[in-house]
Amino acid sequence: MPNFTFSTKPPQSVRADVLVLPIFEGLEPGPGVRPVRGVDLVALYEAAGNKGKRGEYLIVPNAGLDGVEASAILLLGVGKRDDAGPDACRRAIGKVARQLSKRARVATTLPQIAGRAFDEAVQATVEGVLLGAYRFDRYKSNSNDDTPKLREVAILGGARADARSARTAINRGQVIAESQMWARDLVNTPALDLPPAELAREAQKMARQVGLKAKIWSEAELKRGGFGGILGVGQGSVRPPRMIELRYENGSGAPIALTGKGIAFDSGGLSIKPADGMEWMKSDMGGAASILGAMRAIALLEPRLNVIAAIPSSENMPSGSAIRPGDVLTHRGGKTSEVLNTDAEGRLVLADALAYLAEQGPRAIIDTATLTGACMVALGDEVWGAMGNDRQLIRDVLAAGEAVGEPGWELPLYEPYRKLIDSEIADIKNIGKRYGGAITAAFFLREFVGDIPWVHLDIAGPAFSDRVGDYWPKGATGVPVRTLVRYVLLQAGTRRR
Ligand code: BES
Ligand code: ZN
Ligand code: MN
Repeated sequence: MPNFTFSTKPPQSVRADVLVLPIFEGLEPGPGVRPVRGVDLVALYEAAGNKGKRGEYLIVPNAGLDGVEASAILLLGVGKRDDAGPDACRRAIGKVARQLSKRARVATTLPQIAGRAFDEAVQATVEGVLLGAYRFDRYKSNSNDDTPKLREVAILGGARADARSARTAINRGQVIAESQMWARDLVNTPALDLPPAELAREAQKMARQVGLKAKIWSEAELKRGGFGGILGVGQGSVRPPRMIELRYENGSGAPIALTGKGIAFDSGGLSIKPADGMEWMKSDMGGAASILGAMRAIALLEPRLNVIAAIPSSENMPSGSAIRPGDVLTHRGGKTSEVLNTDAEGRLVLADALAYLAEQGPRAIIDTATLTGACMVALGDEVWGAMGNDRQLIRDVLAAGEAVGEPGWELPLYEPYRKLIDSEIADIKNIGKRYGGAITAAFFLREFVGDIPWVHLDIAGPAFSDRVGDYWPKGATGVPVRTLVRYVLLQAGTRRR
């Protein structure tokens, strides 16, 4: 992991292998470009066919650049001047992060484009450098060909920049990006190597490293505790379920409660999925991974409040011991559900965890889950769906997501649809009609939170990407780790310190 520093030195006088300077769409030079003498950087950039679009770059070797100490300048298109905020920084530098990691020392003025949002832009720049260089090559037998060489990244501020707040932003960006990459690793790991017990071990190891309390619920303990959903979904697999309970304690008052869907692999169970694309279902613990990543970051950033997480993990497999369509499960707290489709399993495991968290009397509950294909159909693969029972909480979480470049959009819990999950023989059934599938899934979850403020994030789209993005390769994205951390930090008021 490279070392990030902050400095108010003039860009020309910084020693580095490459100095990254921004340029806006329309070829308007960004901070640090004009002072460079001896060559017309903007003209060179334009001559190479660039317009300043986000990520369009040109490397100019330092052959006679007057007074410039860096060995090369990388002119980096950042898009429109009007959009020059933290997200533009994250995306622009994310796109060249692989280029940068071939060098040892990098310096950049990039966050200065964001003006008064400088600190946020510093954080986003650090995130972009790290997240954009992320690769999952653990399973490549010769992965050392392009080992990253990046050792030092100097973030350059204008003369009046506040060094102390910039260093806080650097630290925050580093912790959050590392946590998000760790979540990506969990999601990208093949299900063969990450059964519920192994996910729990990884969580426990992380908890020890960052100082969280951890309790892993065994199958027997889940049985004694009445967690019929987690057990029912897991009973078709030879690899038994777990529940991961983590506690972060650093304040007084009711905790924020978090949970995430942790299906180690979703074959659909007896209501088996088609073969096409089933390999993606190793990512069906993306919700769990995002909560674990967020808990890691929270523990390291030390906001003054309490957070509790209870993460259910089962593997959904078809077998002689699997649950059948028509079976009825009894959840934690006693509510029953009729399982009419074993592929609607996420809500069954989350129900138990939500009921357990509601017992703890939290101030709010947030769950994240790769819950429905219907949500992907509605919002596409970059936007998560938000549904909940509390306007303020929904607003706060949507605002957090927007601020960190992980956008969500609200879908309505339209009350007349609630009856779609009425069951003939149990309290509720686990599927509705064909339409409105994201909403009926959320109604199912709502049954288990009582009157506690709650919001559900359906991340089926953004958790996993089938194409390269600005700062993510194909595969796991780690969404919405940044959103969760932002929300929790704001609740503690630490961002205004
Ligand atoms: N894990 C899936 C949802 C999913 C599908 C996530 C595609 C990411 C990509 C979930 O368990 C599921 O199978 N949902 C069903 C529900 C249906 C049976 C009511 C779905 O969306 O089709
Ligand atoms: Zn699933
Ligand atoms: Mn499923």
